[in-house]
Amino acid sequence: MKNIELNIEKALPFIDIREYESFISEVDRISASLENNTCAGSDFLGWLHLPSSITKEMLDDIKSTAAVLQENCDVVVVAGIGGSYLGSKAVIEALSNPFNGLKKGEGLPQIVFAGHNISEDYLAELTDYLKGKRFGVINISKSGTTTETALAFRLLKKQCEEQMGELARKCIVAVTDAKKGAARVTADKEGYKSFVIPDNVGGRFSVLTPVGLLPIAVAGYDIDKLVEGAQVMEKECASSVYASDNIAAVYAAARNTLYNSGKKIEILVNFCPRLHYVNEWWKQLYGESEGKENKGIFPASVDFSTDLHSMGQWIQQGERIIFETVISVEKVSRKLVVPADEENLDGLNFLAGKRVDEVNKMAELGTQLAHVDGGVPNMKITMPEVNEYYIGQLFYFFEKACAISGLMLKINPFNQPGVEDYKRNMFALLNKPGYEEESKKIRERLNK
Ligand code: PA5
Repeated sequence: MKNIELNIEKALPFIDIREYESFISEVDRISASLENNTCAGSDFLGWLHLPSSITKEMLDDIKSTAAVLQENCDVVVVAGIGGSYLGSKAVIEALSNPFNGLKKGEGLPQIVFAGHNISEDYLAELTDYLKGKRFGVINISKSGTTTETALAFRLLKKQCEEQMGELARKCIVAVTDAKKGAARVTADKEGYKSFVIPDNVGGRFSVLTPVGLLPIAVAGYDIDKLVEGAQVMEKECASSVYASDNIAAVYAAARNTLYNSGKKIEILVNFCPRLHYVNEWWKQLYGESEGKENKGIFPASVDFSTDLHSMGQWIQQGERIIFETVISVEKVSRKLVVPADEENLDGLNFLAGKRVDEVNKMAELGTQLAHVDGGVPNMKITMPEVNEYYIGQLFYFFEKACAISGLMLKINPFNQPGVEDYKRNMFALLNKPGYEEESKKIRERLNK
């Protein structure tokens, strides 16, 4: 069976090979520091061997919980933010028919997401949508105290209890810390089924824990295959693999070399709109891991060819501080041929008989050549198909590469100290108990 592949050929003309080699020469030391728990942030390395440590019992427990929700609910709301929702959203969106509203098929619940914003309109509209429906909630929060998620869950819990009665206890599931946080307290008090997010797995690295696996299983997708794909990549990107053959190391070294040459922005590109949220997941992974100490590549993303009609001009001719990484899907799942038309008013008969995907592939190739000509280094990740197995490979590849890349950048890739700043201000402005001093200071500042 094929694996995902990385090709950096079209970035090489922009790469200082000596610097690249010097990054590659660091890989053994970095890999050893990950394996020996001696790198920066070593308390959060639970993701490193997560795929190979997931047991059949763990997967069975997730699947049987998913079956309860599937049996009793028409809609399941996944409440979570950041690492507590982007992974499952990425997989479910990538595998779903976009016209079925995240419902895989008859007899399976529709999946909707909440707790990732504080929009009154969004929550009110969700409340309306759920009225009269049999619904359940998966409340996901590692800290158990995240405001966005807790606020949504407070509303959802009440509505679920009102509509579902005693069944609510069965249809609300918590994925949270083993001991601490409000989500744990509530789950234990109410007797909800719960799953534990391991202490040593940070939010953005948690897609292969119940955080990602439970919603994906509820949606009806194959979590065994997802884990199997990740296991394959765990071996492919293992520290024992020679650095120049290790695609995670190659990607990390290439992007750091490009960064040092002034390419400050990496754009993750897809030509398959189903991958939109894979890009979003990736942005969090790299943005939160690397953007610190006034350093780090800014992770951006586009969906092509859609965004060629909005961002294409900037990418082709704007300031030359960008490089692109394209996720290229080899084989699409459906077949659709361009029909011939007698009148040919649109002039498209030159495409008649061709697969739509052939047109898309030529758009991809044409774009790559144009962007490289325009001074944009281009790396390509080839994904044989969009399915659970290859998404599992992609997830692990990006996680491992992110850790190596962050350590090459000499930052701690596993913390996120900057995320707290907005929360402190928000709590101060909302007069949260315990924030009296901050409230006073922020009001004085605003009144100046
Ligand atoms: O990666 C992270 O740590 C964050 O994005 C978190 O996932 C996010 O803030 C949600 O946190 P929690 O799961 O504690 O509610």
